[in-house]
Amino acid sequence: TVGKSTNILWHDCPIGQTERQKLLNQKGCVVWITGLSGSGKSTLACTLSRELHSRGHLTYVLDGDNLRHGLNKDLSFKAEDRAENIRRVGEVAKLFADAGLICITSLISPYRSDRRACRKLLPDSSFVEVFLNVPLEVCEERDPKGLYKLARAGKIKGFTGIDDPYETPSDCEIVIQCNVGCCPSPKSMADQVVSYLEANGFLQ
Ligand code: PPS
Repeated sequence: TVGKSTNILWHDCPIGQTERQKLLNQKGCVVWITGLSGSGKSTLACTLSRELHSRGHLTYVLDGDNLRHGLNKDLSFKAEDRAENIRRVGEVAKLFADAGLICITSLISPYRSDRRACRKLLPDSSFVEVFLNVPLEVCEERDPKGLYKLARAGKIKGFTGIDDPYETPSDCEIVIQCNVGCCPSPKSMADQVVSYLEANGFLQ
């Protein structure tokens, strides 16, 4: 279904992103959180959303797990389905950013090429990639859904970090570093992102 539409024309509306951004006092963007399962992406996304909301900013969270209950319920975890998962979320995030919102995504998004493709969908600088860098051993120790245990037992095949790759970002805007026995609180992680958004003119 990808790339098969023909004879289609683009229609512009008189009210565009600029007008909507004026109304909202913010610049639409995508905050793309990537990291291993159990690294705390969803917690960071929700904490960041709450922080920005309390400062009067309109946000929307697109969470990988949640989207796989609906929009992406037809996709597996093999590489091409993960790519399609990321592509769809990238396109949806682009629409939210165009609507003027600060769209926060939380997906493993393990492949560099898929993340880069999403970056290319957005105007320069409005794709803010956040790498939640939590060592595998910490994620595995947390194992909030018991999935690492199942993967180690061979009951889940192709689990990211165990028998499926995670490609570390090399060109991200923000790295949030956790180490064994020492991880910043979700609030201080969110503050790091808020500071970046402030410094780069996304919040007026
Ligand atoms: S991806 O790689 O970006 O397409 O994954 P995503 O849509 O973010 O979904 C990740 C959540 O799916 C659960 N899960 C798996 N993760 C990784 N590998 C395999 N094989 C797998 N199977 C199920 C897991 O709960 C992930 O949740 P998070 O929130 O990342 O812990």
